[in-house]
Amino acid sequence: MIRLKDIHKSFGENHVLRGVSLDFENGKTHAIVGKSGCGKSVLLKIIVGLLTPERGSVEIDGVDISQISENELYEVRKKFGFLFQSAALFDSLTVAENIALPLTENEEYNFTKKEIEKIVAEKLELVNLSGTENLKPSELSGGMQKRVGLARALVTNPEYLLYDEPTTGLDPVMSDSIDNLISRLNETLGVTSILVTHDMFSVEKVAEFVSMIDEGEIRFSGKTRDFLNSNDEVIYNFIKRTKQAI
Ligand SMILES: Nc1ncnc2c1ncn2[C@@H]1O[C@H](COP(=O)(O)OP(=O)(O)O)[C@@H](O)[C@H]1O
Ligand SMILES: [Mg+2]
Repeated sequence: MIRLKDIHKSFGENHVLRGVSLDFENGKTHAIVGKSGCGKSVLLKIIVGLLTPERGSVEIDGVDISQISENELYEVRKKFGFLFQSAALFDSLTVAENIALPLTENEEYNFTKKEIEKIVAEKLELVNLSGTENLKPSELSGGMQKRVGLARALVTNPEYLLYDEPTTGLDPVMSDSIDNLISRLNETLGVTSILVTHDMFSVEKVAEFVSMIDEGEIRFSGKTRDFLNSNDEVIYNFIKRTKQAI
C-alpha cells in the first residue's frame, strides 16, 4: 500500500501541494484528477522519490522513503513502473532496445541476450505489439508509442504502475485501447495502478477510486461512482468542463 501523509511541496513561491494525505490500496486502480497545473505529476514524482516534499511522508508498503538510504530507495523504486507523460522513447534505438533499457543500463541485472529477447517479447505481447521489436519509435503511431513506453515500464515486473496522462493527445479509439490495456494489466498482473488523467471516460472505465486535487488539497477521495455523482459544485463543474473539452 502507498500512504501519503500531509504532503507539502513548493517551488519558490508556488505552494503546489498543501497537505495531501492519501492511501492507495493494493491491487486497485486509482485515478488522480484535477485542473492542469494542480500538482498531479508532482505528486507522482513524489511517490517514486524523484521529488522530495518539504513536509509529510510517503510510505511504500510500510517503509517511509524519507527515512531510508539511497540504496534502499533504489530497491523501493524497483517496485514501480512509470509511464511518463511523454512516452520518452529514444528514436535512435529500436522498440526492443527501448524496452530492454531498464535491464541493459543496470549492471545489477545479468540477463543474457536470449533472456532479454524473451522478456521483451513477453512484454510486447502484454501490450498487443508482438513482432514490432525491430521497428523504430518514429515508425509507430502515437498510441503504439505509448504502448511501447508501457512495455518498458513493465520490464522489471513492477508491483505499482504509475501512468501520467496516458491518453492525452490520442484519438478516442486509441485512448480506448490504452484504457482496456490498463484494466487488463490490473486484472492479469494484479498490479496497483495510479492513473493521472483529465479524461473522465477513462476514469469511469478503469478507476475504482478517484482523488481530486484542488488548490493544493484533496477535494475528493473515494469511489468513482460517488465522484461522478457528486453534488459538490467544484467537482460537478470540473467534470462538466472536462467532458466538454473532449
Ligand atoms: N521541477 C519544477 N520546478 C518548478 N516548478 C515546477 C516543477 N515541476 C512542477 N512545477 C510547477 O508545479 C505546478 C504543478 O505542476 P504539475 O504537477 O506538472 O501539474 P499537473 O497537475 O498539470 O500535472 C505547476 O505550477 C508547475 O509549473
Ligand atoms: Mg502533469
